[in-house]
Amino acid sequence: MSSATFDFTALLPAGLPPPAVKWKGAPRYNFTGGNNDPEQVPLDALMAAADAVLAREGRTLATYGLASGPQGYRPLREFLAAKLKQTAGIACTFDDILIVSGSLQALDLVNGVLLARGDTVVIEQESYQGALTRLARLGVNTVGIPLDGEGMRMDALAAALSSLKQRNIRPKYIYTIPTVHNPTGAILNEARRHELLRLSQEYGVPIFEDDCYADLIWNGRRPPALYAMAKTGGVIHIGSFSKSIAPALRVGYIVAGWDMLSRMLALKTDAGSGALEQMVLGEFCAPHFAQHVPKLTRGLRAKLDTLMEALNAQFGTAAEFDAPKGGIFLWVKLPDQVDTTRLYQPALAAGVAINPGPDWSTDKAYSRSRMRLCFASPSHEDIRAGIAVLADVCRKEFGVPARIANVVRSE
Ligand SMILES: Cc1ncc(COP(=O)(O)O)c(C=O)c1O
Repeated sequence: MSSATFDFTALLPAGLPPPAVKWKGAPRYNFTGGNNDPEQVPLDALMAAADAVLAREGRTLATYGLASGPQGYRPLREFLAAKLKQTAGIACTFDDILIVSGSLQALDLVNGVLLARGDTVVIEQESYQGALTRLARLGVNTVGIPLDGEGMRMDALAAALSSLKQRNIRPKYIYTIPTVHNPTGAILNEARRHELLRLSQEYGVPIFEDDCYADLIWNGRRPPALYAMAKTGGVIHIGSFSKSIAPALRVGYIVAGWDMLSRMLALKTDAGSGALEQMVLGEFCAPHFAQHVPKLTRGLRAKLDTLMEALNAQFGTAAEFDAPKGGIFLWVKLPDQVDTTRLYQPALAAGVAINPGPDWSTDKAYSRSRMRLCFASPSHEDIRAGIAVLADVCRKEFGVPARIANVVRSE
């Protein structure tokens, strides 16, 4: 019997989020979400890895945890420990790592351990929508810290922490995406990392470091992770294979001391994350990850160039942006009269999906005329065509850009 014949409404507990909207298919030009470049999924090597690992170890699928224990497939954790040492300067062992179902589960576990309704967290003023919506749902107050081209502003952070202290509020954590920030693409420089750690210590507020874009830097050089720089702990580090390999795999990880990992493991009630994905990644990454990533970032960089050229051609000076240092997003400022939340629907009706700025910010007025565009998944042709359609819709709705491809339009 289908649920349509039975009314569940009276049985639903209070406090549920609103129901999900039914998926109606992908838009023609999709600039939303954190999707990756389909051409860059390393299919041949993933298929070979699946074959090899299943032939060798497939029978461990008969046990929960693949005979590796509840923290996840051991060869994958060993790869991560070596990679994090090499690229982020993190000295940890496989035992300090918990594999999770995408870093979204990491957000849920960290929040589950640390947060209660009415708590306060400090967060970059522009931030990941998935983090912001979780905090809102949990009834947690957010204090947004503005960013500039070098990431979170430490003067503003110091002022916020001091003002909270005067009001006897000790935030539960400082959430940051320091290495290729979502949505701005900024990389927190090393001096600011030192200052952030100093402030975290001074005020006794831990740092929650979300590093899921850290592999996607154009020049391949990144500052050490906050986790690596912290002399006295107090940092939880999370990462993901969504951006470096493929988001549908749903594999992320948490690096933390056992005091916190043991708490999170107790909340992770799914009896382990997807085993096949972990096995295939473990087999693929050791020989291939280091070669795959620069190839991926070269392709992403080329798509960013196409997007910036298309915006310049179609919007002219009406679209302002700073070129990000890596990642998959461009954060774009449109003229003040444009409300990107109101641009969203007509753009979608014309086949173009964008992420309106206010969904990615604690400051709705500041972000009103901003939008986030993902350039990783559309093709070069679709980037050009989609931006042309978007400019046309924006001009019809808000009168800007007045000129498209340097031709004055009138209606
Ligand atoms: C900053 C940040 N953290 C976490 C996630 C979640 O990623 P996943 O669960 O796919 O690892 C995303 C996805 O876009 C993100 O942008």
